[in-house]
Amino acid sequence: MSQPNKNTPMLMPTRRDIQFALDPKIISEWHYSGGPVFTTFLNIFSTILPVGERFFIDSVRAYRDKIEDPELKKAVTAFIGQEAMHGREHEEYNSAFLAKTPAARTFEWGVTKLLKSATKHAPKSFGLSSTIALEHFTALLADGVLSDPLVTEGADPQYAALWRWHALEETEHKAVAYDVWDVVMGKGAGAYLGRSAGFVTATVIFWGLTIPAFIAALRNEGQITNWDGWRNFFRYTMGDIGLLRRQIGNYLDYFRPDFHPWDHDNREYLEQIDQFLTDQEGLAA
Ligand SMILES: [Fe+2]
Ligand SMILES: [Fe+2]
Repeated sequence: MSQPNKNTPMLMPTRRDIQFALDPKIISEWHYSGGPVFTTFLNIFSTILPVGERFFIDSVRAYRDKIEDPELKKAVTAFIGQEAMHGREHEEYNSAFLAKTPAARTFEWGVTKLLKSATKHAPKSFGLSSTIALEHFTALLADGVLSDPLVTEGADPQYAALWRWHALEETEHKAVAYDVWDVVMGKGAGAYLGRSAGFVTATVIFWGLTIPAFIAALRNEGQITNWDGWRNFFRYTMGDIGLLRRQIGNYLDYFRPDFHPWDHDNREYLEQIDQFLTDQEGLAA
């Protein structure tokens, strides 16, 4: 058994019980600058976060008794607490979208079924390797959100705050599941192959399900031929704002045999947390 990566700092995540006052009436348009296509893209991603985060919690919890390092044990408890809070707030967020968008309900149903079946039938190491792969995805999206204020500028303040809070905490805990993997799987060829296979599988399944669900949701929303909306969507994801484009290099870093999430050291964004909490108190007042 190996220990968590000693060359990188162990950041201790903090569970924060924050609630957001999201207006369900603006669910299809809340990102006013990004437009309705980009808003639907974020909404469809949000649809599967509660069920996905429950899967992450179960996958990490399945190995909790194998962890001896007290700091990592504490980090796992905080990780579970953070993901549970994210799930709760995204459930609230999703209720309006699920109510009006049949494609979102089908998507949520399909992903729930798939993850339940993976938990039941696949080896538990597969659950953990998919979790660390998907945690890498979310850490990259979080970096994309935090590294350019334009990503959330011009959006409804409460929806923007929810995404920023989620991005800050995903950054804070981005190495926790990975450190659990390192402890239980070690650093040999088997561990490398296991996490690489989990990453390829997660990539194929995630985009293979998300893209058709996104298209179907746009049809439901009557936005499929909104060309201005598409132009904005490409600007935000692959163009000059480039939420996804800017992460392609970081994404592929996962295949380095000595990869660790904190090799991409973006902890400077965590300095925004205090200001975020102050701003959020102001928004809630
Ligand atoms: Fe999360
Ligand atoms: Fe996470």
